[in-house]
Amino acid sequence: MDVAAPGLAPDSGGALRRADPCAFVIFGAAGDLTKRLLLPALYNLAAGGLLSDAFSIVGVARADWSADEFRAHMRAALDEFATDGVDAKTRDGLVARCRYVRGDFDDPATYGRVKDELADVARSFNTRDNCIFYLATPPDLFSHVACLLGESGLAKESDGCWRRLIVEKPFGVDLKSACALNKDLLRAFAEKQIYRIDHYLGKETVQNIMVLRFANGMFEPIWSRHHIDHVQITVAETVSVENRGKLYDHTGALRDMVPNHLFQLLALTAMEPPSRFDAVSVRTEKLKAIEAIHPLTKDAIAADVVRGQYAAGKVKGKSVAAYRDAAGIAPASVTETYVAMRLHIDNWRWAGVPFYLRTGKALRARKTEIAIRFRSAPLALFRDMPVDNLAQNLLVLRIQPDEGAALHFNAKIPGPEVRIENVRMNFKYEDYFDAAPSTGYETLIYDCMIADPMLFQRAIDIEAGWRAVDPILDAWREAGGRDLCLYEAGSDGPREAERLLSPTGQQWRAIA
Ligand code: BG6
Repeated sequence: MDVAAPGLAPDSGGALRRADPCAFVIFGAAGDLTKRLLLPALYNLAAGGLLSDAFSIVGVARADWSADEFRAHMRAALDEFATDGVDAKTRDGLVARCRYVRGDFDDPATYGRVKDELADVARSFNTRDNCIFYLATPPDLFSHVACLLGESGLAKESDGCWRRLIVEKPFGVDLKSACALNKDLLRAFAEKQIYRIDHYLGKETVQNIMVLRFANGMFEPIWSRHHIDHVQITVAETVSVENRGKLYDHTGALRDMVPNHLFQLLALTAMEPPSRFDAVSVRTEKLKAIEAIHPLTKDAIAADVVRGQYAAGKVKGKSVAAYRDAAGIAPASVTETYVAMRLHIDNWRWAGVPFYLRTGKALRARKTEIAIRFRSAPLALFRDMPVDNLAQNLLVLRIQPDEGAALHFNAKIPGPEVRIENVRMNFKYEDYFDAAPSTGYETLIYDCMIADPMLFQRAIDIEAGWRAVDPILDAWREAGGRDLCLYEAGSDGPREAERLLSPTGQQWRAIA
């Protein structure tokens, strides 16, 4: 193939350096992930001057396309899904760098053709054939593709070139399958070559949790059981299962969201300050927080975990059919679309502080936040106003939408009497920063290109997440759906979730 590859945008001139020359090989290049997220993210990196001049994309898929047809599809994808308008020159520069290998993922000959294409890329740019393999395939092919990459010699780093593999959740469906997947990946690639994506870690606001905690002196001294009453982590979605029914019915909210996205939020909130801001220190501290989750026994699960499934209702004024009536769902399905739980973290910082987690689909509003409720002031100084009536201080980290943070505290209402009201200091990202819209994959892809694994998960991190939720999966399997609570689509979730907090006199924060 001989396609002129015009220069991409000039170097950003910012603090970030251009990534190393590399080929970005996408297995599953004809799929949704490629066109909706990967291409737009690569475009944003190109527009920001962060891609090497010797960058290319090699799409691998079964679709019977010529290279020109693949390029036409990628151009159309950028026109449709770019996050912030398209500059034709940058788009054409990127599209011109696209090559295509047609083939079945289980056919060794496909990998031979990928190899030839990579050699050709390296020749045409006169560079080493550094390469990222991105598995944008259905998850049941992860092991297989990784294994064939290994067998074909494509995973091998030689002559100073590097080879990296990006895999995205689901990493298995429980601890056993996650361990098996890790084992398969590690047969073909070394751990340091594997980049496991949790897309929550690509979100600016998620990365900001560490900055808020560790770049400010005022939060850390009060960030413990001495001052914090409890923590609520909410990932509420308005979307229903839509066309993912068949897949989702085998997954459910727990597997889909908890050991990955919610635990990442929990780990960033609960971790000890790392001694260095590097991949080993940060990931080790996060891992320790997950490993410190108190193991849930069968009795504790009955008391501390609530699962729900949406019934028909209205979300934002639009009718939503019951989960069981959605396409691809078994009519008597007991798959949960909502889960809430109370967890404890067994360490000196957090002993006795409940962490409440909840996530669900078809809820009243879309909202991801971490709410940290502080203990009450110790002294009833305002005589006619029992201290119990004073709202407890609250710090809310808003992950999405309306990104920002708010501190709720008590203030005197002006006037001769001492009357007190809860008020709010509110920081909004948009008031301070002019960040261009992004897919959330830009940082992750760029970090892989520059070999910074801090925002990626190691095999042990994935396994620790599953280890904490596996007992719930077992208990639910045994219960056979008896404890499943229905909730109306468009509501805040099942009422039964209230019982997790009510014994302490606390409540969930309203979702909208
Ligand atoms: C995915 C889940 O990992 O995250 C989806 O599979 C969920 O079910 C999505 O909708 C939520 O991501 P975000 O970025 O929209 O909060």
